[in-house]
Amino acid sequence: MFRTTYSLSSFTERIMLVDDDHSIRHLLNRQIATFGLETDQAQDGTEAMELLKNRQYGLVITDLVMPKMDGMELIQHISKHKPLTDVLVISGQNNSHNFSSLIEAGATDFIKKPFSIDELKTKLQRIFRERRLFNDLQQAQEQESRSFLGLVESLAISLSEKDPYTHGHSKRVTDLSLLLAKQLTDVDVDLELLRLCGMLHDIGKIGVPDNILAKPDALSAKEFSIIKEHPDRGTYILRPIERDAKGLTISKVIRHHHEHFDGKGYPCKIKGEEIPLMSRIIAIADSYDAMTSDRPYRKSLARKHALEEIKKNAGTQFDPVLAKKFISFMQNTVKPGAAKASSRVLLPVVRRNRIISAN
Ligand SMILES: [Fe+2]
Repeated sequence: MFRTTYSLSSFTERIMLVDDDHSIRHLLNRQIATFGLETDQAQDGTEAMELLKNRQYGLVITDLVMPKMDGMELIQHISKHKPLTDVLVISGQNNSHNFSSLIEAGATDFIKKPFSIDELKTKLQRIFRERRLFNDLQQAQEQESRSFLGLVESLAISLSEKDPYTHGHSKRVTDLSLLLAKQLTDVDVDLELLRLCGMLHDIGKIGVPDNILAKPDALSAKEFSIIKEHPDRGTYILRPIERDAKGLTISKVIRHHHEHFDGKGYPCKIKGEEIPLMSRIIAIADSYDAMTSDRPYRKSLARKHALEEIKKNAGTQFDPVLAKKFISFMQNTVKPGAAKASSRVLLPVVRRNRIISAN
């Protein structure tokens, strides 16, 4: 296998030494300094956790048997709260933990005391080389993901351009979704992800024929069933980004933006909190924008009446808690027309008598 030589001094992240024996910390510190690396020191797990609160460490080198908090507990803490920090365990022969239990707990590697300087150096080189490879891989994936998301965003714009009725719809749905998400104080919503989901929620309509998308008259049952395929089509288009955790979330949110809170939506008929939170947010913004936008065969609803429709369908079509928040902030903070359609929005004309669905 091809291996590059790794210079320890090229490692720029900080190292923490954790050992209750001052002389061992001192020895390790001196040795590691000869590699061109800097360290901080802690005498047990509790002190180490304090340091970890204030600084990002690339590597923690720890003993196992220590007062207050032992090494095993520290490894588990780092594994849970600082997953990007490597842990090298240095311990004597007489400990109750075997190598596999340490790795299972989240340690990166183990050195048994007594050890030689060469052994320490080799372990550090291996850990740092793997970190570099991991970082390179992650950067490449992030770059790939960014490029792809940029491309998909362009597709969303293309979708808006495809039909005059859709122009601006995705943007307004995004703006309203972000406004609603900012009202939620008890949950954390990733606003950047939500923005992308809003922009892309109807990306699956790229696969719907123009003559159906732009049809000004009533759709046949067959045409409507084709329109209803768009959440699944969107997921199909976004499959390449599903390797990325954020990409997978976007794909799921888009797939479920037409589910109803009572389970009577589509495509999966999931209900309540089974529906991703961002899908439930977009569903409200989407329907509101649909109702307040002019359509080929009728004028838009006044904001007051659109909000009444949202209220009427809270708990059946919409998440009742989100619907309440949406109505409240729209009534109290958003000026009439702030997120109103600047042009007509694409709305299939099926169910003309019930305009609450954006389809
Ligand atoms: Fe849709």
